[in-house]
Amino acid sequence: MARAKAALNDLDIQEGLDDLEGTSARVRVDEKRMINARADLNQLVPFKYDWAWQKYLDGCANHWMPQEVNMNADIALWKSQDGLSEDERRIVKRNLGFFSTADSLVANNLVLAVYRLITNPECRQYILRQAFEEAIHTHAYQYCIESLGMDEGEIFNMYHEIPSVAKKASWGLKYTRSISDPTFQTGTPETDRQFLKNLIAYYCVLEGIFFYCGFTQILSMGRRNKMTGTAEQFQYILRDESMHLNFGIDMINQIKIENPHLWDADMKDEATQMILQGTQLEIEYARDTMPRGVLGMNAAMMEDYLKFIANRRLTQIGLKEEYPGTTNPFPWMSEIMDLKKEKNFFETRVIEYQTGGALSWD
Ligand SMILES: [Fe+2]
Ligand SMILES: [Fe+2]
Repeated sequence: MARAKAALNDLDIQEGLDDLEGTSARVRVDEKRMINARADLNQLVPFKYDWAWQKYLDGCANHWMPQEVNMNADIALWKSQDGLSEDERRIVKRNLGFFSTADSLVANNLVLAVYRLITNPECRQYILRQAFEEAIHTHAYQYCIESLGMDEGEIFNMYHEIPSVAKKASWGLKYTRSISDPTFQTGTPETDRQFLKNLIAYYCVLEGIFFYCGFTQILSMGRRNKMTGTAEQFQYILRDESMHLNFGIDMINQIKIENPHLWDADMKDEATQMILQGTQLEIEYARDTMPRGVLGMNAAMMEDYLKFIANRRLTQIGLKEEYPGTTNPFPWMSEIMDLKKEKNFFETRVIEYQTGGALSWD
């Protein structure tokens, strides 16, 4: 005890504060910046980016868990001999294969690369919420795989073994690798652009394009009363993902506003190329998962849809459309996404949260 007290007497609080990121002075709003800020990152308020805090609150209000979804109808259908066609079974397996690892890639990129480099506490607060939601998504895919009694080795290794899945995964991983080195720092135009490219890769392409063929296929199944539990899981995930995407777009645009020199002609060209590459990879994934027409759709319709989505992603970050005149062949997808604000997603809840009421202080 004497040694412990002596050690505390020697504690230099100034030294401790100097070790904290940023300065130890009281924070003023005008010192806050998305990247390369010098303001203390441990002081959440005063807020500068209200949109980030609002998304954190909205994300918490949308909390859900995979076990709340009843999977019994899916289990019966999956195990029956003639309930699903071979093409439909391929779609379920490929998508669980892609998504079960893709959400881990997103979570790792957030925690190991993005979090450290975003120098704003309200954005970090949302990133922590997003990281937990990615864990819930991985949990949801695992829950489907386990409920359906699938071969886990086969599903979890698709990102190595199935080319159309592996290409998307390695495209994303390349951008994590470039900034996850602990010695990587932003602060020069070159490294700031490298970081911006990571955000575009993950928010606009991975979460903004690579998820959309699979979401459309599984939700289309649910609309036809097949794999309705799996489809409900995907619907919750889609609702979370549209918020992740919007948060990412807000971050990218705010970084551009604060650092206009980064957004030069070369950077715009590179960002456009990244979105075009992502669109091409997703078109290849659509062809691989739909060698024939299935569920009222085919690869050519999906190609149109992906070009429509790509136009949206381009314009959302201030770039021009690359596929002018493309229309949306799946307007019901937008309806599902727009409805998300109105529909009460919790009316089908089967369990209550064991939170405050369950605590006992005796
Ligand atoms: Fe996710
Ligand atoms: Fe996400």
